[in-house]
Amino acid sequence: MFLVLACSAIAAPCEKPEKRRAWHTLSNPEKLEYLNAELCLMKKPATLGLPGAKTRFDELQAIHALQAFATHFVGAFLPFHRLMMHTHETALRNECGYTGYQPYWHEQKDAGKFTSSEILDATYGFGGDGAPGSGCITNGPFANYTNSLGPGYEITNHCINRRINNFASSGSAQAQVDNCLKMTTFATAWPCIEGRPHSGGHGGIGGQMQNGVSSPGDPLFYLHHTWLDKIFWDWQAKDRQKRVSSIGGTNIGPESSPGFPQRPSNIPKPTGAAGDPGTTTTLTHVLNMYGNSPNKTIADVLDIQGGFLCYEYVEP
Ligand SMILES: *[C@@H]1O[C@H](CO)[C@@H](O)[C@H](O)[C@H]1NC(C)=O
Ligand SMILES: *[C@@H]1O[C@H](CO)[C@@H](O)[C@H](O)[C@H]1NC(C)=O
Repeated sequence: MFLVLACSAIAAPCEKPEKRRAWHTLSNPEKLEYLNAELCLMKKPATLGLPGAKTRFDELQAIHALQAFATHFVGAFLPFHRLMMHTHETALRNECGYTGYQPYWHEQKDAGKFTSSEILDATYGFGGDGAPGSGCITNGPFANYTNSLGPGYEITNHCINRRINNFASSGSAQAQVDNCLKMTTFATAWPCIEGRPHSGGHGGIGGQMQNGVSSPGDPLFYLHHTWLDKIFWDWQAKDRQKRVSSIGGTNIGPESSPGFPQRPSNIPKPTGAAGDPGTTTTLTHVLNMYGNSPNKTIADVLDIQGGFLCYEYVEP
């Protein structure tokens, strides 16, 4: 009896990891539940007072738009997006009654041929390509959503637009994933993941998704970045003990980059980050969720079964 009690007291903090599954393996009712929860966030009024955001969906987008240059081309790229996915998943569950977990888009399956992906289904998916000219999506559950943030740093009302590019989507191929999984250090794995396959999903969908600042205006963003999070975790799991504390790289983002609109003067110049003693990304680096969920440090999120996070990726 005492032994049993002692064991349960020191048991791992994550005993029943939540299951994140590939979109194409969900049943139609499961897909609809997810899509409806996203629509619910799009209908809920904003509560945080972030510039331009009208809905809860926009407020989650703002996490990305307000610090695009502090979270890309820096060591925090993967941990930041990991926490952002968790924040989105938590909003779906706590604010919109979603009972599943954040699904991912198994992009290898569709690489080089995004136009025929079932994730773009008009009934059980995210709707298809943008119309010629306007680029606005014309079918699917999100066809009439008005993005208030973007493109880029602008605050303007506009449709969700796409310009699907099958050639660009080949960046999501299995060979590109395997290439990154082979990397032996964080310093080489992170830029590999941030290059291709990251650009495969953004460039393959195009339009809003291709905008380095406002891309979470397209709800496909969350399925793409959850897939990248799985790749990061698959890489970490190859040498888990070491890689759940491996971090590094600069914490000063560049001033500009292709795909990223020029930073306007009201967005602070990236100059290192809270929690780091210098210009290198460390475990105590603070990931800023702009009030959508509590800030966390990189140390809090490097292990997806470390206690604060408790999930696993189900293979497709
Ligand atoms: C979008 O608006 C059009 C035109 O009003 C309507 O036919 C369509 O059903 C709407 N789609 C959604 C998903 O609300
Ligand atoms: C989150 O972090 C940012 C930057 O480090 C900081 O300015 C902000 O006050 C923090 N927010 C909360 C709620 O602690």
